[in-house]
Amino acid sequence: MSKLWKGRMDENDPVADSFNSSISIDGVLYKQDIIGSIAHAVMLGNTGIIKSEDSDLIVRSLEEILEDLDNGKLIISKKEEDIHSFVENELTKRIGDKGKMLHTARSRNDQVALDTRLYLKEKTEEIINLISSFLEAISDKASQNLYTIMPGYTHLQKAQPVTYAHYLMAYGMMFLRDQERMKDSLKRCMVSPIGSCALAGTTYPIDRIMEGKLLGFKEISQNSMDSVSDRDFCLEFMSNAALLMMHLSRLSEEIILFSSGEFDYIEISEAYSTGSSIMPQKKNPDIAELVRGKTGRVYGNLFALLTVMKGLPLAYNKDMQEDKEALFDSVDTVINCLKVYVPMMKAISIKKEAMEKAAAYGYMNATDLADYLTKKGMPFRDAYKLIGKIVADAIKRKKTLEDIKIEEYKGYSSVFSEDLYQAIDIKECVNRRNSPGGPAPESVKAQIEYIKSQIKKN
Ligand code: ARG
Repeated sequence: MSKLWKGRMDENDPVADSFNSSISIDGVLYKQDIIGSIAHAVMLGNTGIIKSEDSDLIVRSLEEILEDLDNGKLIISKKEEDIHSFVENELTKRIGDKGKMLHTARSRNDQVALDTRLYLKEKTEEIINLISSFLEAISDKASQNLYTIMPGYTHLQKAQPVTYAHYLMAYGMMFLRDQERMKDSLKRCMVSPIGSCALAGTTYPIDRIMEGKLLGFKEISQNSMDSVSDRDFCLEFMSNAALLMMHLSRLSEEIILFSSGEFDYIEISEAYSTGSSIMPQKKNPDIAELVRGKTGRVYGNLFALLTVMKGLPLAYNKDMQEDKEALFDSVDTVINCLKVYVPMMKAISIKKEAMEKAAAYGYMNATDLADYLTKKGMPFRDAYKLIGKIVADAIKRKKTLEDIKIEEYKGYSSVFSEDLYQAIDIKECVNRRNSPGGPAPESVKAQIEYIKSQIKKN
């Protein structure tokens, strides 16, 4: 391996070399590194820092290297220290001394900051699109289930009736926020660090704005020491990824729970289930469980990098090489989880009757009965107390509120009349909750529309 910094120092111990090397991790960045180098060569040529014919030669050769890597003609040598060394050494191998001009007015410190930003931009955009597909999938499912009544829970105890559509749109709002956070983070990711060099800029008459523009950046960073030592953009992504995974994990938990024999509200398609090697009857929700499980590593990656960065003096320190393994893992995990989740959600079948049956038992219309009394003039606290007593008696007698006869109701209070049965009809209970954000079909339709309109903005 030919080191870029061979000059002052003799060879290292091979053990130290291999410990120091990052190519097995940052090899992933070859495309970004070459694209960045092409822009750098163009800028060097345009500003007259190198001759334009030399710049052209470098650009052509870099394009060939990229093509050869893409189609497998050239393999990244694991003997190199990092991807930056590999590309530069390969260039020099191909065009001789002219290749050595490329690193004028550049350092691996601003180069790696650039490569990582270009990589993260592409991956964040992929994730934003995957979230859109996921939102579309659950919005479509919600549209089909506007009238599918299910129990709504607090403390995992039946609370008030909602619909499956309303429930799904709760997740819709979470993932919409995740998507907004991802979009927002792009603003800070897309700031070009190139031209900051090692830490203190350069004496060459470089054109940072032009080089940034060539790479799709609208802005350049404002302080060279910050540019090479900032990993906020990675941490911001990893923190957004952790939140997204937390949401996926909560949804997974409910998919697991709701597909169990005890709930039996939904059925996961066989395509996204696994069997047991010993129990022939089993159909396990492994995909949802794995997504729940993988949330741990995304949290871990965030904490690993926060800890790496904590207490680092300015500017670049080699500790920061540890950013990539954690970042890449979070990126891959989020992408893989979303990729499997979208079709899995589409293929989930809903057991309407089971949900509705579960909603019919559990006194979830008790609040509505209390509201019924208040609307007839009884103070809410008194109504609440009276309904509490009626529910307690009904539980003892194993009856639902609908089972109790009108004469018995009148025994509790003369305010009750026949219309109470309409007030506690479970469908009516849902339909009447038409406040904005509520479970009534018209309210949920508005929620679906909102999500669809936000997706369109992408
Ligand atoms: N492999 C290094 C990293 O990922 C690249 C920057 C190296 N810079 C240096 N001065 N050693 O952080």
